[in-house]
Amino acid sequence: MFNDLKKINARPKPYEFYTAETLWNDEHISKQMLEFHLNDSVDLASRNKTFIDKSVEWMTSRFNIGKNTAIADFGCGPGLYTIRFAEKGATVTGIDFSENSIRYAKEAAAHLDIDYVLRDYLEFETDKQFDLITMITCDWCALSPEQRKMLLAKFCDYLDNQGSVVLDVYSLTAFEQREEITAYEHLHFNGFWSADDYYGFMNTFKYDDEKVLLDKYTLIEEYRTREIYNWLQHYSLESLKAEFEENGFRIEEYYSDVAGTPYRKDSTEIAIVAKKAA
Ligand SMILES: C[S@@+](CC[C@H](N)C(=O)[O-])C[C@H]1O[C@@H](n2cnc3c(N)ncnc32)[C@H](O)[C@@H]1O
Repeated sequence: MFNDLKKINARPKPYEFYTAETLWNDEHISKQMLEFHLNDSVDLASRNKTFIDKSVEWMTSRFNIGKNTAIADFGCGPGLYTIRFAEKGATVTGIDFSENSIRYAKEAAAHLDIDYVLRDYLEFETDKQFDLITMITCDWCALSPEQRKMLLAKFCDYLDNQGSVVLDVYSLTAFEQREEITAYEHLHFNGFWSADDYYGFMNTFKYDDEKVLLDKYTLIEEYRTREIYNWLQHYSLESLKAEFEENGFRIEEYYSDVAGTPYRKDSTEIAIVAKKAA
């Protein structure tokens, strides 16, 4: 018991474990996630409908989205953005490894011609070229520096020379607002993690040097114990600029969100428009 508790409370190295597959694809958890995506009163897995409408309207006008626009949405979830882009006439590809979300997305877009790809976006390959690549709701922050490098190389390959990347990340303001905590709860988060009986630990670790935060969940059932690691990189404008420049991009614009709200220093998120460096 003592050793188990020691393990639960141990601080891993930043990005030591990658468990996104369980977080988004476990049969029970992914059903709960889908409910969160579609629930308009919580901005957890996706943002609310009003925001998404505003965001798509902003991107439509900013990038002149229409019949000749090819868009790829990395981590498209249930297709809340892809469907709206397609309704604007764009040719849309949505990539996600959550079977549940892709199934929902396909059903919701049965009347539209959207190319949904059920795949780990780190392994996605295509011979298409895109005018716009999006990655929305801070999924970028869940990836390690190596994974982000890999993804920027992919973006570079698949983005038209005049094309743009739009994505959002957590800011240092968000980092400052979080604290290290240790919590323990029977059926942690109201049964979110399993349909069966379980005990859940949540440990939040902060890595001040790297500006990384980890929400680690240890979920103990009668027949298995699972650990889920939700890593969150936080950025300053400078660290975001440096990361993109080191990987062949230049950031052209900064906002407070992907709906084009002007950038504010106290915003908990930063959204960017980036292009390939010449
Ligand atoms: C925070 S949700 C955002 C969904 C969508 N962009 C939105 O804003 O409505 C992150 C999405 O990325 C997907 N995802 C996470 N890691 C992935 C990976 N390695 N490959 C493919 N999809 C991934 C998840 O399944 C989930 O649908």
